[in-house]
Amino acid sequence: MLKNAKRTHGCGTLRAENASQATVLQGWVHAYRDLGGVVFLTLRDRTGLCQVTVDERSSAELREQAGRLRQEYVVEVEGTILERIKPNKKMATGMTEVIPTRITLLSTTPPLPFSSDSASDAHEDTRLKYRYLDLRRSSLQNNLIIRHKAAQTVRRYLDGEDFLEIETPVLTKATPEGARDYLVPSRVHPGQWYALPQSPQIFKQILMISGLDRYFQIVRCFRDEDLRADRQPEFTQIDIEMSFCSQEVVLELSEGVLRSMWKGALDYDIPEIPRITYHESMTRFGVDAPDTRFGMEHVTLTDMLSNSDSKIVGGAISQGGIAKGMNVKAAASTSSRKVLDGWTEFVRRYGMGGLMWAKVGDDAWTGPMSKLLSQEEQSSVGEALGSEPGDLLLLGVGAAKAVHAGMGRLRAHLGKELGLWEPGTFSFCWVLDFPGFEWDEEAERFVALHHPFTAPKEGHEDLLGTGREAEILSDAHDLVCNGYEIAGGSIRIHNPDVQEKVFSTLGFSSEEATKKFGFLVEALRNGAPPHGGIAFGFDRCIMLLCGTENIRDVIAFPKTTKAQCLMSEAPSSVSADQLQELHVENTRQKS
Ligand code: AMO
Repeated sequence: MLKNAKRTHGCGTLRAENASQATVLQGWVHAYRDLGGVVFLTLRDRTGLCQVTVDERSSAELREQAGRLRQEYVVEVEGTILERIKPNKKMATGMTEVIPTRITLLSTTPPLPFSSDSASDAHEDTRLKYRYLDLRRSSLQNNLIIRHKAAQTVRRYLDGEDFLEIETPVLTKATPEGARDYLVPSRVHPGQWYALPQSPQIFKQILMISGLDRYFQIVRCFRDEDLRADRQPEFTQIDIEMSFCSQEVVLELSEGVLRSMWKGALDYDIPEIPRITYHESMTRFGVDAPDTRFGMEHVTLTDMLSNSDSKIVGGAISQGGIAKGMNVKAAASTSSRKVLDGWTEFVRRYGMGGLMWAKVGDDAWTGPMSKLLSQEEQSSVGEALGSEPGDLLLLGVGAAKAVHAGMGRLRAHLGKELGLWEPGTFSFCWVLDFPGFEWDEEAERFVALHHPFTAPKEGHEDLLGTGREAEILSDAHDLVCNGYEIAGGSIRIHNPDVQEKVFSTLGFSSEEATKKFGFLVEALRNGAPPHGGIAFGFDRCIMLLCGTENIRDVIAFPKTTKAQCLMSEAPSSVSADQLQELHVENTRQKS
C-alpha cells in the first residue's frame, strides 16, 4: 500500500506481523513528545499514523536530530518495525513501533494556523483559507476516499450496462434549469457570451438523437443560485440518458447506480425503494423530498374543520385554505412556551400566519387550539391525530402552499431536533407524477416544475394549450434520501410539436424559443428516438455516504455560502486591460 521506489510501508498499515521487518516511511510529523533523550514521533501519511520511537536504541546524533523535529515537518524514516511491549490500543498500528536508523528531513514549516488534530476547533473560514492543511485531516481524506470509491463503482456499473462516458462542452449556451447562469465573455466575438452549463441536459438529448443510445458523464455543473448547506455553485452530477426506454427502465437503472454506490462505498445493501406520488408526498409530508426515516406524518383536517366557528380556522378554510395537523408524541411536558414560540417563528418564515397547538392532558386540552376548536372538533381532531395524554398537537391553517411548506419544514426540523431518527440510517423513496407546471404569481406565467423538456404523462399532452395546463402531470422522477433530493430526471418530449406547445405554455414566444433552443427543436424534427434519463447530485450522495450535513466536507476545494474560494481568493478583480480585451466594462468601478 502506497509503496514507491523508496517507501516500503504506509504508516497506517503497520501490524504485529510486520515486526522485525526493515522499513522506509515517508510522511508528516503528526505529533512529537520530547521526554529529554527519548523522542516519540507520530508519523502520518494517507494510510494513517504510526509511532517512531527515538531512544537509546538509536544513535545519539539521531536522538538529537529527532529533538529538532516539529509538528508537520516532512520526513523520511528508515528503521526497523518492532512489536511494542506496551501496545497502544487506541491506534490501529499500536502493536508496533519503528526504531529509526536514519531520519531525513525533507521539508520544514513555521508553526501553522492549526494542526490536523486541532483543525476541528478552527473556524471554518480559516480552514477553507488553508484548505490544504485541513485536507490533511483523516476525516476529510476519508470523505475523498469514499467519493473516489463511489465514482469508480458507478463508472464500472454503467460501463457494464453499455453506457458510454461522453464529455459535453463547458463553454456553451444558457440552459434552462431555473437558476442564474455563470457567463463568460467572448474575446473573439465582441459583446457575446458563453454560459457555463447548469447541466448537460440539451447535449445529452442531442446525443440520443445522434444514436449513441446510452450516455453517462460524471460532470461539473454551474448554477448561480442562493446557496445552502447542500448546495454549491459548482457541483457534480452523475448524468445519465438512454434511448427507447420507459420510465420504469430509467428507475431500475437508477436504482442499480444507487445500489452500486452504497455497496461500493459502504458495503450497504439498499432494500426495496418505495414509490409515492408528488401529491401523496405533499399531503403526508408537506414537501416533495420527504424525510421518511421517521413518522409524525401530516394529517389533513380541512374537511373536518371546514365548518369551524373560529375565524382563524373555518374562515381560512372557507377562503380556499387547508388545515393540517401533526402529533408530536409525548412532547407536551418538554415543549415550553419559548420552544413553541420558536416553532411559530419557524413556520412564519414559510408564509404561515402562525402555529396553533394543544397539549393533551388526561381530561382536557390546554393551549390555543383548546380555545379555538369546539369540544366536538377537538375529539375528532384528537382521534385523527391518534392523540394520547402527554402528546403535543400542532395545527397549521392557511393557503395550501404556505401550510405545506411551513408544516413540512417544521416536521423535518423536529425530526432532527427531537432525535426522531436513528443516526446512520438511510431511507430512500421515489417521488413520481409531478405536475408539469406551476403558476408563478410574480411572473404571472407557468414555470416548469422540472425543466421544459419533461414529457407530460401519456394523454396529458392533450391538455396543452387548453387552459388546463395546471392539471398536467409529467413523467418526472425524483429520488430522495433522508429528506435530500439526490437525483431528478424524466422521460423527455421527443415530439417537436409537443415541445413547441410546452415552450408556448411557459410563455416563450416562438422567436424566443427558436433563439434559445432552436437547435434542439430542429434536432427533434430530424429523427429523435423516445428517450429519458436522470442526474444524481453526486456531492449530495457523498454527503449521505459520509454522514455529514455539510456539502463542503465532501468537495476537495469547495466554495463558501457566498460562492467564494477562500484559498485561491476567487472571485477576484481583473485588470482593466483584460476587461478591455473582453469588451467588458466594469460599471462597479465607475460608480
Ligand atoms: P436537477 O436540476 O434536479 O436535474 O439536478 C439533479 C440533481 O443535482 C443535485 N443538485 C445540486 N447539488 C449541489 N448543489 C447544487 N446547487 C445542486 N443543484 C442540483 C440535486 C438534484 O437532484 N438536467 C436535469 C436532470 C435530468 O432531467 O436528467 C437536472 O439537472 O441532487
